[in-house]
Amino acid sequence: MKDSFGREITYLRLSVTDLCNLRCRYCMPKEGVCLRRHEEMLTEEEMTDAVTVAAELGIRKVRITGGEPLVKKNILSICKNISHVPGIEEVCLTTNGTLLSNMAADLKAAGIQRINISIDTLNEEKYSEITRGGRLKDALCGIEAALNAGFEKVKLNTVLIGGFNDDEIKALAELTREKDLDVRFIELMPMLSDSGFGEDAFIPVGTVKEKLPEVIFLGRDGVAELMKLPGAKGNIGLISPISCRFCASCNRLRLTADGKIKPCLHSPLEYDIKGLKREQMKDKMKQAILAKPESYGKLSYADRSCAGRTMDRIGG
Ligand code: GTP
Ligand code: 5AD
Ligand code: SF4
Repeated sequence: MKDSFGREITYLRLSVTDLCNLRCRYCMPKEGVCLRRHEEMLTEEEMTDAVTVAAELGIRKVRITGGEPLVKKNILSICKNISHVPGIEEVCLTTNGTLLSNMAADLKAAGIQRINISIDTLNEEKYSEITRGGRLKDALCGIEAALNAGFEKVKLNTVLIGGFNDDEIKALAELTREKDLDVRFIELMPMLSDSGFGEDAFIPVGTVKEKLPEVIFLGRDGVAELMKLPGAKGNIGLISPISCRFCASCNRLRLTADGKIKPCLHSPLEYDIKGLKREQMKDKMKQAILAKPESYGKLSYADRSCAGRTMDRIGG
């Protein structure tokens, strides 16, 4: 289905849980999430219903997100259900990778076609600092497990933070040389008022081009501008929600774990589908698509996102 600005909406980001085993500083407050009542969250059946009506409205790709989707007990069954929904051509998953080593093969068997993994640094202490206690080794094992399980086009997501990991751009980009994976640098989005990041932390992804003058430009792929180190196996992607927005070609809808459809990541608009029957869900989803804003307002250190939620409760 097309929105009011002629954009065909084909991609649903489904957050299956607010919970996460990490506490990334740019994503959630240090006290973590306040625990929600089980009854407030979508059931497995409601998730399948929502994806079914979304497919009837033209959604073709579903990306499962969190919080951290792999902390969800019934994640394999959710993936299986969604991959069987008629009309859904691609089911992908975004994870921090730390629980992936034991699950990669099962996720593949459950119908997941592609996996994106977050990793912001290759230094153990810095990893622990940015995730508030995570272990780099777990994430690295998760990446290996995804490749060993036969996942293709694995993408690593690195949130670019000035004064934290801008000195690692080259080292992270070098991962694309030997391994068949892409590394994408994402501009830090100002979601939290007390993230502890100063103005200097918000640096444009153009910094990557400056640090890697040898790259070859390849064009666009979804939200990313693609490039490559000469001779490398994988690509480098730049995602620039701040310096160069991609709203004009946005094809996404989001569904939060508590059943709110968000037509735009940075808008407070939400449409509640919790407890609804399929036909009512479909009406709500249509309303949400038609209400999708043309673009979001200015985003900067001073002009924070109007999303009304932290990223862990949206799913990126
Ligand atoms: P592919 O299916 O591989 O293209 O993945 P993806 O880029 O759609 O998903 P992923 O979960 O890997 O998201 C990468 C980053 O892009 C995350 O930081 C998201 O928050 C950000 N992102 C994804 N979609 C949007 C969007 O519509 N607007 C903005 N501003 N950022 C987005
Ligand atoms: N800015 C940019 N990216 C973010 N993510 C989470 N919070 C932010 C933020 N404030 C990213 C994670 C993950 C993806 C789903 O969203 O690193 O890769
Ligand atoms: Fe968890 Fe991902 Fe948020 Fe980090 S960015 S706290 S891994 S949901």
